[in-house]
Amino acid sequence: MQIVDKLGDLLQNNIANLFQNNISGLLNKKTIGLDIGSNLIKIVSAELDGAEIVLNNLAIATTPPDALEEGKIADLDALGAKIEELLANNGFEATHVVTAISGEELIIRMVEIPAIPKEELPEAVKWEAQEQLPMSLENVILDYEIINKKENGSYELMLVAVDRDIIDSYLELFERLDLKALAIEIEPLALIRALEHLYPGQTLAIIDMGASTTDVSICSQGQLLFTRTISVGGSNITEEVADNHDLELEEAEEYKCNHNLFEEELGLIIRNLTTTIYRSLDYFQVKFKSYNIEQIVLTGGGSRLIGFAEHLSEEFGIEVNKLELLDSLRVEIENSKELAANQLLGVSVGLALRGVRGDD
Ligand SMILES: Nc1ncnc2c1ncn2[C@@H]1O[C@H](COP(=O)(O)OP(=O)(O)OP(=O)(O)O)[C@@H](O)[C@H]1O
Ligand SMILES: [Mg+2]
Repeated sequence: MQIVDKLGDLLQNNIANLFQNNISGLLNKKTIGLDIGSNLIKIVSAELDGAEIVLNNLAIATTPPDALEEGKIADLDALGAKIEELLANNGFEATHVVTAISGEELIIRMVEIPAIPKEELPEAVKWEAQEQLPMSLENVILDYEIINKKENGSYELMLVAVDRDIIDSYLELFERLDLKALAIEIEPLALIRALEHLYPGQTLAIIDMGASTTDVSICSQGQLLFTRTISVGGSNITEEVADNHDLELEEAEEYKCNHNLFEEELGLIIRNLTTTIYRSLDYFQVKFKSYNIEQIVLTGGGSRLIGFAEHLSEEFGIEVNKLELLDSLRVEIENSKELAANQLLGVSVGLALRGVRGDD
C-alpha cells in the first residue's frame, strides 16, 4: 500500500486525492463507496453499464454515538464492528473501499498565485498554504486544484488541507476491516461524480444538508468551483423543534420529518441557514461572474425536510430540486426496502463510482 509518507505532501493531481492508492484493474462489485456521516453510515456498491449507473447493493445504518470526533475516527472498535456487521448482513463482497471526509476539519480555501511557470506551482502553493492555513504544515496533507488561469497568467486554486491524523484514522479503520483503500477524497467531488450525468453541462449549486453540517458546493460542467461548509445541520433543526414545541428529541425528530416547518413561524436556525446559503451563492456569483447558477440540487437527509426546496426557491428566486438519484439508477438489489432513501446516497454512490472508473 502506498501511503503518502512525506509530511506536507502535495499530491497536485486533483483535490480528490487526499489519499490515493495506485491499484488498477479492479473488479467493480468489489469496491464499496463508504459515507460515514455523523448520523448515518451509507455503504453502496455500484457499477457503470455504459452511461447507466447500476446499484448493486446498499446498506444504511445509524453511526455509533461518538464514533467520529472532530472529523477523526474516535471509536475505531464500535465503528469497525458496525461496518463489519453491515457488510456481512447485506452480502457485500468488498475488497476495496473509497471514502470521503468532510466537515469543519477539512480546510478548503480559494487562493491566487501570481503568474509563474507551472512546474513551480507546488512549491508556491506550499508557501501560500503556510501563510493562509491556521496550522503548521508538518502534520497536514495538502492538495490543490487549478480552478482558473487568469488572463494575466495568475492562477486561481482550490487548496485543500486536512490533518494527517484524520486520514490515518481512516486507514486504520480500513486495515481493521481488511479493505484496501483506493482513495480518500472530499465529499463534493463524490457528489459531482454521482450527479454529472444527471445534469450534463450545467452550472449547479449542490446543497448537502447532513445531520451536523450543510455543504454548499458549486460545479460547472462537472468541475468543482466552490465549496463551503456551514456548521448547521438536521440535528440543529431537531433541537430547535424540540425547544419550540416542548418535545423530547425523539419526538421532535418525528415532528420534523412529518410537518412543514416552513408553514410555521420560522425558527432562527432555519432563517440563519437560509441566509448563510444565500451569502455563499452570492459570493460565488460575485467572484465568478461568467457563471450563472442554473439550478440548486438539494441532497442529504436534511433535504427531505418538507417544504425546504420550495422555501429556498422562493427566497432565492431560482429553481430548486431534490436529488432524485435513484430515478437515474438501475437498481439490482433483491431487498430494496431502503430505496426510499433517495437523497441519502449521493455521496456514497459517487464514491463507489470512483472505484469503478479508477483514476479520474
Ligand atoms: N424525512 C426527513 N425529513 C427531515 N429530515 C430528515 C428526514 N430523514 C432524515 N432527516 C435528517 O437527515 C439527517 C441525516 O442525513 P445524512 O445521512 O445526510 O447526514 P449525515 O451524512 O449522517 O451527517 P453529516 O453529513 O452532517 O455528517 C438527520 O439530521 C435527520 O434528522
Ligand atoms: Mg453527510
